[in-house]
Amino acid sequence: MNGVEIKKDIYWVGVKDWNLVEFHGYATPHGSTYNSYLIMDDKITLVDGVKHYMSDEMIARVKSLTDFSKIEYVIVNHVEMDHSGNIPVVMKLAPQAKVVTNVAGKAALEAHFDTAGWNFEIVKTGDVLNIGKRNLEFMTTPMLHWPDSMMTYVKEDKLLLSNDGFGQHYATDSIFVKDEPFDVVMQNAKSYYANILFPFGAQAEKALNTAGSLGLDIDMIAPSHGCIWCGEKEVDAIIGAYAYWASGENKGKAVIVYDTMWGATATLAEAVMSVFQDAGIPVVKHCLAVKNVSEVMVDFLDAKCLHR
Ligand SMILES: [Fe+2]
Ligand SMILES: [Fe+2]
Repeated sequence: MNGVEIKKDIYWVGVKDWNLVEFHGYATPHGSTYNSYLIMDDKITLVDGVKHYMSDEMIARVKSLTDFSKIEYVIVNHVEMDHSGNIPVVMKLAPQAKVVTNVAGKAALEAHFDTAGWNFEIVKTGDVLNIGKRNLEFMTTPMLHWPDSMMTYVKEDKLLLSNDGFGQHYATDSIFVKDEPFDVVMQNAKSYYANILFPFGAQAEKALNTAGSLGLDIDMIAPSHGCIWCGEKEVDAIIGAYAYWASGENKGKAVIVYDTMWGATATLAEAVMSVFQDAGIPVVKHCLAVKNVSEVMVDFLDAKCLHR
C-alpha cells in the first residue's frame, strides 16, 4: 500500500471504499474514495483524512513515504467524518503537527473529538502558508459542503485540493480522470453535484467567483472523492459544468415524480407525461417505488418543471 505521485513530491494517500452503497441517503452504486494527499516539502504536509474504518490503509500509504513524526502540518479542509474520521488517529501518530483549518473547522473538530493538546493554525480566504518550496493558499467555501468547508491551492503546482467540490462517488482503480471513460466520470460528477451540492448553487457560484478574483491558475483539481481532473481541457470541463449547474440554467426538461398504490396516480402521471410529449417538451417520469431518489435528483438539475 504505497502512495501514488500525482505531481512531483505530491502523493495521493487515500483509500477506495469499493463496497459503499449509500452515503447519508445518497445511493452510491459505484462506491466512493476518500482522497488524502501528502506534500513532501521542507515542511511535510498532510491534507485531509479518511473515514475511521479505513484508517489503517491510509496510515500505511503515508508510512510508505515518511514517518508520522516528520509531518509538520495536517490540513483539515472539511470536518465531515468521511474526511476527518481518522484525524484523531493521525494526531496521535503526529502530535507535533499543527492542524491547519478555519474558524468553523476548529469549532467542528472540537465538537467531534477530544482535541486537547492539538495545536491549531487558523486560516481564512487569501491566507498563505509557506511549507518550503511551495506556498499553500486557502479559500473558505462555506456550505460546499458544510459551514467549515475550504479548499487548499498549491500555487507552485497549479494544483487545487478541492475537498468535496468537483468530487464523484466513484471507486475505480484509476487515480486520474484521463484513465476512465470521460462521460462516465462526468455523469458521476453530475450525480454528486445534484445530490450533495445542488441546494448550495449560490455558494458554488460565489466560490467560483472567489477563485477567479484570487487569480488561481489551475491545471489540476484533486478532489476528496473520485478521480483527479488533470490538464486544461478536463479542468475547464468540470469548472464549466459547475458554473452551468450553479447558474440555475436548465435544459427545459419536465420531471414527473410520483408513487402509486393501485395505479391511479400512475395513470395521472402518464396523462401528464403525454401532455408534455405532445407539446414537444422533453420529459422524464420516475416512480419512487422503483427508483432511488438519488437518480431522480440528477434529472432535477436539467428540469424547468417539476410536476408532483
Ligand atoms: Fe462533505
Ligand atoms: Fe466528502
